[in-house]
Amino acid sequence: MSYFRSNITAMTGYVPGEQPQGGKLIKLNTNENPYTCSPKVRAAIGHAVQAGLQKYPDPTAAAFRLRAGELLGVDPDWILCGNGSDDILTIVTRALVDTGDHVRFAQPSYTLYRTLAEIQGAKCHVVDYEADWSLGQEFTKHCNHLRLTYLANPNSPSGTVLPPGEVARIADALPRPLLVDEAYADFAEANCLELVAQNEKVMVSRTLSKSYALAGMRFGFLVAHPQLIREFGKVKDSYNCDALSIAAATAAIDDRAWFDQTRSAILATRGRLTARLREMGFECVDSQANFVWCNHPSHAAEQLYQRLKDSGVLVRYMRYEGWGDGLRITVGTDEQIDALLAILAGLI
Ligand SMILES: Cc1ncc(COP(=O)(O)O)c(C=O)c1O
Repeated sequence: MSYFRSNITAMTGYVPGEQPQGGKLIKLNTNENPYTCSPKVRAAIGHAVQAGLQKYPDPTAAAFRLRAGELLGVDPDWILCGNGSDDILTIVTRALVDTGDHVRFAQPSYTLYRTLAEIQGAKCHVVDYEADWSLGQEFTKHCNHLRLTYLANPNSPSGTVLPPGEVARIADALPRPLLVDEAYADFAEANCLELVAQNEKVMVSRTLSKSYALAGMRFGFLVAHPQLIREFGKVKDSYNCDALSIAAATAAIDDRAWFDQTRSAILATRGRLTARLREMGFECVDSQANFVWCNHPSHAAEQLYQRLKDSGVLVRYMRYEGWGDGLRITVGTDEQIDALLAILAGLI
């Protein structure tokens, strides 16, 4: 078909992780939270439905921005809300990147960055992570022409974190914005939020999909300099967050007890999963996210993925062109992880 822009025809498109609907699979493949969301979220959605949905929602989700601003210690004018953080990544890319422009990201990392750049018809510079999951000088070399640089921190699939000082150095070296994708920051020991006020080129995106168990709701946000937020506001859909997601997200960030309890549970299970995998001979990266990246020296990752799936456990098999492959296992409940470990013990 000749209807499409040539870059759309040429690109593959983003392939999301498998999302089997219903069924009995133990789903550990797309880094969802294994716990159901806070009961306060369910109550807030109920109230929003009762109030009626006939009116358009608040275009800027002010209720959420006010509460998030208090919690994070930032002015609400520094926050832009989105239909998941993928929407935030889309808005930022559409606003900053033109046809033929150059963007940079590291590999292996979140594969959506390439897709978003390709939609714009931009050129991608890919820099490999070092063996210890740091980024060398290469990441900021020859950067004068870059319009946008993406950095997942914690990174996926590794779960590793670049310390804020290192991210600040990267941002200083870049001529234009750095989008620090902090989808998993709530599970990490450090984050880059403070850098936003120190350097206008630093933008931080967050999501409620993971640490607040709202992947099905779709809500994310960006923290950036208000001048940038104003410009991004021109690009977003007028009502990119619906009334239910605004109510749900606002109630979610308000329930600190739910957050602390489920976070602690996930971190404890993550430690146990990592230790057990290592006992079975897996090479595991120390994760600061809600998943663990691993490989076994004598069992092919793809085969393990398939055998686990045949036994009712879905993990993510990832293969990165020119880099290698591995298994990314989402931290589930203790019962889910015990079931996974029991099957693995039989396979190894
Ligand atoms: C690194 C990273 N960023 C962003 C997202 C998108 O999250 P959401 O659109 O659900 O907010 C994901 C989801 O898996 C992710 O892994």
